Amino acid sequence: MDKIIIRGGKSLSGVIPISGAKNAALPIMAASILTDQTLALSNVPHLADITTMANLLRPMGVEIGVGARVNDPHGGHVLELTAREISDTTAPYDLVRKMRASVFVLGPLLARCREAKVSLPGGCAIGARPVDLHCHGLEQMGAEIDLDGGYINAKAPGGLHGAKIVFPKVSVGATENLMMAATLAKGETQLINAAAEPEVVDLANCLNAMGADVEGAGTNIITIHGKPSLHGASYRIIPDRIETGTYAIAVAVTGGRVELIGARLDHISSLAETLGRAGVDVTETSEGLMISRMNGHIKGVDIMTEPFPGFPTDLQAQAMSLMTVAEGAAMITETIFENRFMHVPELARMGANITVHHGSALVRGVDRLRGAPVMATDLRASVSLVVAALAAEGETTISRVYHLDRGYERLEEKLAACGADIKRARESD
Ligand code: EPZ
Repeated sequence: MDKIIIRGGKSLSGVIPISGAKNAALPIMAASILTDQTLALSNVPHLADITTMANLLRPMGVEIGVGARVNDPHGGHVLELTAREISDTTAPYDLVRKMRASVFVLGPLLARCREAKVSLPGGCAIGARPVDLHCHGLEQMGAEIDLDGGYINAKAPGGLHGAKIVFPKVSVGATENLMMAATLAKGETQLINAAAEPEVVDLANCLNAMGADVEGAGTNIITIHGKPSLHGASYRIIPDRIETGTYAIAVAVTGGRVELIGARLDHISSLAETLGRAGVDVTETSEGLMISRMNGHIKGVDIMTEPFPGFPTDLQAQAMSLMTVAEGAAMITETIFENRFMHVPELARMGANITVHHGSALVRGVDRLRGAPVMATDLRASVSLVVAALAAEGETTISRVYHLDRGYERLEEKLAACGADIKRARESD
């Protein structure tokens, strides 16, 4: 197992290319099930979760080829997915428990093959994370769902039909799963109180490129007119807004000036506003975004996570690391997941002053953090420790690096190129 060793205190300056969005690529890969033709995806990040999704799709009959890199130095990988025939409609427990996004195959399998057997993901480090909204929506579209032996057994012998589905709470994954299912259902489906995240819009754009009729993605009402079949397409995945935000926060905490190539301001507007109030400049450039803090201290700013366009829960941990060294205090409230403060005790080991009460954390800024051995239980918590370590005095060792490898492509390389003292080593070294 690898660990990351960081000696903090260096300001960052230079250029960081932003990779394709993991959370857009995962459902879009599952969308390849919806057609027997090839879906060619460019700007796919090279990450452990993408490999897990490929390992899930291959035994179902999806052929996956790695195409040539397009003429773009930051273009990521090209994946060509062809589901000529689906030979197996099961998503087994050993893959689903490794990656919850495996549940994205449920809607597409049911829509194309009229049956699916998908393991229930179970809880995870950040909360219970049920999939009831996915299942109820599919039932409204005519599926019969039976939970047995830890599996969702779904059948729609007569095919799925359109329905008006009102979500009681906003769910990115349920919106995406039902949107995919509805593209091949008979008639019109309306998703009301749908998620408006950029990844939902990216999936809708890809589905439309495949011949689907999806309108309203990016708003809270999405309308899908089902089609008898979809066809192949070439599609480029959007830049990763959470990677963008993570590096923007890293620059904020260390000071310096870094251009994030490919980053989009409209995808991180609430973070940009928070950083602005904290004393960090975020400006658009012809190639992406420039993040700079040349002098002055970070000021404490209150943050509340919300569905898009609100502050993303996937940046809450990183923002908390920033606030640990701010002038004054910041109240950080997590409203999406019930257990997403696992980074707090680790930040405390580095000298942070944080008090958690239910879903809120009161962060009182300290003069400096000190390096320490730390570890985390999920992807964003792990990267928040990287952010803290970049600002800390002395050496920090972060264990369980496999969490980082699920969501950050070439993290050490990208940070080291901007002057960070960061390296990867074997756990035993
Ligand atoms: C997506 O997860 C992301 N994952 C998460 O990113 C992200 O944190 C989350 O959206 C919120 O933005 C992917 O896109 C692969 P939800 P998802 O359904 O779809 C509850 C990362 O670090 N809920 O929007 O699973 C749920 O428990 C990951 O990259 C139900 O109650 O999130 C949560 O409280 C972590 N029933 C809330 O809704 C359901 O059926 C929002 O979850 C589904 C969800």
